[in-house]
Amino acid sequence: MALVRFFRNGVILGSAEVEQNVPILEIAEDAGIEIPSGCTSGNCGTCLVKLIKGEVPIPNPPPPGLDDYLIDEGYILACICVADSACDIETNPPL
Ligand code: FES
Repeated sequence: MALVRFFRNGVILGSAEVEQNVPILEIAEDAGIEIPSGCTSGNCGTCLVKLIKGEVPIPNPPPPGLDDYLIDEGYILACICVADSACDIETNPPL
């Protein structure tokens, strides 16, 4: 069973099973964890979270809510990014 695990400031909040084609935002809801969101379409950046372990594909071209710097730092958009294997996500928003 592959899990997406959610952390805040390095402390685990919960986890839920990876689901094909289900964005991380919804996986978090399954785990009872609320990630702030707005547009839910990759535009506003409200749902920015950091991938701390594992791999999550970034759409190509990147959505408006991400830029090269954020991608290099490991950030993903929970509303549109889909985990296809186990991963760890830091939900604390960047400063
Ligand atoms: S909610 Fe707007 S980019 Fe994810």
